[in-house]
Amino acid sequence: MKLCVIGTGYVGLVGAAIFSDWGNEVIGVDKDASKIERIKAGDMPIYEPGLSEIVLNNIKENRLTFTTSVADGIKDAEIVFVCVGTPQSETGAADLSAVWEVAEEIGKNLTGYKVIVTKSTVPVGTNEKVKTIIRANAKEGMEFDVASNPEFLREGSSVDDMKVPDRTVVGTETAKALEVMTRLYTHLGKPIVACDLRSAEMIKYASNGFLATKITFINEMAQLCERAGADVCTVAKGMGLDRRVGPAFLNAGIGYGGSCFPKDVAALYKTSTDQDYDFSLLRGVMEVNKAQKDHFVFKVTRLLGKNLSGKTLAVLGLAFKGDTDDIRESVSIEIVKLLRGMGAKLKVYDPEAMDNAKKVLGDVSVEYCKSSYETMEGADALFILTEWKEFSGIDLEKVKSLLKEPIIFDGRNMLDKEAVQKSGYTYFAIGKRTNGVEKIDSRKSDQRSAFLTNGNGH
Ligand code: UGA
Repeated sequence: MKLCVIGTGYVGLVGAAIFSDWGNEVIGVDKDASKIERIKAGDMPIYEPGLSEIVLNNIKENRLTFTTSVADGIKDAEIVFVCVGTPQSETGAADLSAVWEVAEEIGKNLTGYKVIVTKSTVPVGTNEKVKTIIRANAKEGMEFDVASNPEFLREGSSVDDMKVPDRTVVGTETAKALEVMTRLYTHLGKPIVACDLRSAEMIKYASNGFLATKITFINEMAQLCERAGADVCTVAKGMGLDRRVGPAFLNAGIGYGGSCFPKDVAALYKTSTDQDYDFSLLRGVMEVNKAQKDHFVFKVTRLLGKNLSGKTLAVLGLAFKGDTDDIRESVSIEIVKLLRGMGAKLKVYDPEAMDNAKKVLGDVSVEYCKSSYETMEGADALFILTEWKEFSGIDLEKVKSLLKEPIIFDGRNMLDKEAVQKSGYTYFAIGKRTNGVEKIDSRKSDQRSAFLTNGNGH
């Protein structure tokens, strides 16, 4: 099939690459010419395992080309995918200006029947408006259909997610559009949820909203486990083995971040109030997620005090999650800023996100290290803030020889509590009580002496 993909961000670039890998002829469109030149040279604007090989191979096979012109891109395409950004606006709603702009251009340049598919995450009703805009800009009598085909890719594993999706959601208004879309995806042998436009748009938000809620539930359970002396990892395991619950997205941590969950939960909540409904559960999710990092920082101040000047803290992980260089809405970055604000000097390391982190953190009180171990040299405590697999394999004896004090704050439960405590560390994890440390109530502000049973936290 001949396809056009407008936008070469995460969704667009991965989409264009995989569609072409399936044997389709794909033209990727982006108005940023320098970005296209980088992609063609194999220098991907995003870190995504396996992506550059697929892109380069399909460029070589002449199945994947790029242009800056929407008109050239859509001319011969049977399907046009809109994959532009929909960032959060000040009201919490998605900012759809890029979608409207592209719809207008598609309308102006339409030369024959096509299915115009929105892949970007867009609130309910958007596709109908896209149709109206295209209609208003297209030549009289021009035939086209719109479709909603939301993406469920996770950053860091988007190539595999696209190749082996759990399901494909296709919202259409006509049998013709559904036939075209089915032809593209049927070879995957995975369920195709064929539905109306509004339900397809809603499925995307419902999925992200539910996953954010699942994480938030386990994060609140973690608060309870810490206070009640249970272990949240064991609780999650016990819950997750129930097939109705499932084990995924039950890792307690410092809160969810990234370019999707925070904005999508806010946008879904905004949709609810726009429909005169207060989706109070989502309000709770947003509130609890924000508080989760504060609870974590509270533990730090309980042990080290609120004034951290003179302290050097080692930080592993700056990306919003493992396997990505993305720091958008990264809770790790927020925690680094909070610790710096309290006077600490930070030595930081992330396997992929260093360049992006430098842009937002700058040089003041932050030293960028070349390895995990370099951060620890002479540091007063170690922080693990992103779930990169390699952090779980750190050599505890070596870490102890490098740190000034054997203290670890593990915001992602990456280490084995028994092993760490046996090695003589004071270990603060999420949803597990630290040995020798009394129950903490992070809502009360001045409990330092009550918090530490023997005065030093060990
Ligand atoms: C998320 C969804 O998982 C994708 O299905 C969706 O397509 C994508 O948003 C999107 O809308 O584009 P992504 O933002 O890449 O994908 O990242 P996730 O793997 O979902 O992680 C999101 C955040 O939740 C991260 O900060 C991660 O650390 C956190 N998380 C995840 C937890 O704290 N605990 C968990 O158990 C899982």
